Amino acid sequence: MLRLLRALQYPKGLIVAVVAAVSALAAQHVGPQPGQIKNLVTFGDSYTDVVSVGDGGVAWPVYAAGYGPFHLFPFARSGATCSNNLTPRNFPSVFENELPLYFAGVANGSLKLTPEETIYTLWIGTNDVGAGTLLTGNQSPGVTIVDTVSCAVNWVKTLYASGARNFLFQNMIPLQHVPLYSADSYPNRFWTAKRNTTEWSIFMTELVNSGNEIAKLMLQSLPSTLPKAHIGLFDSYALFSDMLVRPQAYLNGTAPLNITGAVRSCIFQENESTSDSGDCTTATGSAKDSFLWFDELHPSEQADRVVAREVTNAIQRKSSRWTTWFS
Ligand SMILES: *[C@@H]1O[C@H](CO)[C@@H](O)[C@H](O)[C@H]1NC(C)=O
Ligand SMILES: *[C@@H]1O[C@H](CO)[C@@H](O)[C@H](O)[C@H]1NC(C)=O
Ligand SMILES: *[C@@H]1O[C@H](CO)[C@@H](O)[C@H](O)[C@H]1NC(C)=O
Ligand SMILES: *[C@@H]1O[C@H](CO)[C@@H](O)[C@H](O)[C@H]1NC(C)=O
Ligand SMILES: *[C@@H]1O[C@H](CO)[C@@H](O)[C@H](O)[C@H]1NC(C)=O
Repeated sequence: MLRLLRALQYPKGLIVAVVAAVSALAAQHVGPQPGQIKNLVTFGDSYTDVVSVGDGGVAWPVYAAGYGPFHLFPFARSGATCSNNLTPRNFPSVFENELPLYFAGVANGSLKLTPEETIYTLWIGTNDVGAGTLLTGNQSPGVTIVDTVSCAVNWVKTLYASGARNFLFQNMIPLQHVPLYSADSYPNRFWTAKRNTTEWSIFMTELVNSGNEIAKLMLQSLPSTLPKAHIGLFDSYALFSDMLVRPQAYLNGTAPLNITGAVRSCIFQENESTSDSGDCTTATGSAKDSFLWFDELHPSEQADRVVAREVTNAIQRKSSRWTTWFS
């Protein structure tokens, strides 16, 4: 507004301002062009880790790289939060480990990625809001959901500053429905101490919904400060909500469709060591693809094939179903 007022006093400035406004409008909501993206650089946690795979099979980035096809540069690490300064855990994090590793590769010349042909994805938050962090009050003093989400959005700014231009931000799934955080949960490999599962599910619903809304508002406000970037929000929450409501449209295994249990569900005793093996029920073969969840915390491989398909369609602009491009 100030710039416009100043421009009004100076006709030449006005022309510049109008040209800038028009080109900004033209660049709006476009996202990358079909065929533009050749490289996929992934950041995140076990939902995206291609080595320590969370879904018991092949991780979504590997499927997406095949579907694209894209050259895959995977940096996500199991157990990650956005930053261990905010939510301390004995796992690598996006800011302390994943980004430094990426920048080290760029600095020594082993990673040479043309910005226009490269898209960066981030799927983070599950461990930031979960048991052992925000949900149970184990964050650094004073840290809230505002800080962990700001950190995730800051991933866009940090990569942009280094020249990156295409971003797809994957928000949190409805975690209140994974077996670990559902109201009818049971002691499992992720948590065996006594807890009120109803309270956990209610608090998780609040954390995920507020976190996703904060992320959306923050991402929406980025384009004006990050010119020539394409910033998209992939609505994982909406996609997984649809899988919960219409599993038959996504799951294709030979067992009855199952959105509450898991391919590998292991029941523990209260207070039992989480390194025990528990009392497990495991689906195998073609029955696995009937499940939405792999275990008490992770999406199944079939759910991840869907994620891979939808992310690929978003990047190639074949679908705008789950994705909003803010620039
Ligand atoms: C470049 O840095 C990356 C990340 O630290 C490392 O894995 C790789 O071996 C290095 N390559 C060279 C050629 O130094
Ligand atoms: C668990 O929390 C819910 C919601 O606050 C409450 O209604 C319920 O009584 C609690 N259950 C127990 C066993 O404390
Ligand atoms: C879903 O899977 C769980 C095992 O995790 C099982 O106990 C439950 O009966 C299954 N539900 C349906 C509807 O098949
Ligand atoms: C589990 O541990 C808690 C805290 O040490 C204790 O209060 C509770 O009685 C234990 N539960 C069982 C079933 O041993
Ligand atoms: C389910 O569909 C996927 C493709 O999304 C396919 O790869 C998989 O083999 C199918 N599963 C079964 C059990 O047919």
